[in-house]
Amino acid sequence: MRLIVIGAGGHAKVVVDAALARGISVVGAVAESGAVTDVGGVPVITDAAQVAADAFIVAVGDNRARAALFVEYAARGFVPAAVVHPSAIVATSAEIAPGAFIAAGAVVNPDARIGANVILNTGCTVDHDCVIGENAHVGPGANLCGGVSVGEGALIGVGACAMPRVAIGAWSVVGAGSAVTSDLPDGMVCVGVPSRPLHPVKDAT
Ligand SMILES: CC(C)(COP(=O)(O)OP(=O)(O)OC[C@H]1O[C@@H](n2cnc3c(N)ncnc32)[C@H](O)[C@@H]1OP(=O)(O)O)[C@@H](O)C(=O)NCCC(=O)NCCS
Repeated sequence: MRLIVIGAGGHAKVVVDAALARGISVVGAVAESGAVTDVGGVPVITDAAQVAADAFIVAVGDNRARAALFVEYAARGFVPAAVVHPSAIVATSAEIAPGAFIAAGAVVNPDARIGANVILNTGCTVDHDCVIGENAHVGPGANLCGGVSVGEGALIGVGACAMPRVAIGAWSVVGAGSAVTSDLPDGMVCVGVPSRPLHPVKDAT
């Protein structure tokens, strides 16, 4: 596989590092401008057409921006590829959709389903039977108990946790360190222990 990474910022560094550790050939990191020249030793390009590639992953932290780029590159004929850091533990029965990124130290337990273009960030845990909707982001060190549902585009902040079988709404944001003890609605910023809706999400997550 010849992979292009869409993005050249901090999250892209992490994705490039994981892909290289996995032995994947990363042929370029696509940035909007040429201000940065390389990401982890991979040349930065400003147009994916500058290199021969057959697969892509979007390495942009913002969920709405990542979603838009995923659609754009798929429409251009590139095939989304998942990148899983070699230190991540993924159950054989877990489903990982194309374009998902699973960072170092993450754990995905049996029968979990991870949607397209999802980020499971460093050291998070996603227990059995969880369903993570496309374009969502489970932040570093977050812990999801069994059967948790995370809606499309939701962000689970660093160190947050969710009790068994709760449902977190689409495009919602769960604040850092929050404990989700009951279902949360769509499109809301939610914080605290227990996590409660604070206000609607303004725009991008
Ligand atoms: C919740 C969050 C999105 C901020 O939302 P916001 O609407 O900008 O909130 P503000 O910073 O204006 O704070 C509003 C109130 O919520 C509180 N608050 C903010 N984040 C909180 C959190 N994680 N837990 C508890 N309370 C929090 C603030 O202290 C403030 O309280 P106050 O009104 O009593 O002073 C942000 O603080 C957060 O936790 N983001 C998660 C980021 C993250 O983990 N990303 C992963 C990247 S890898």
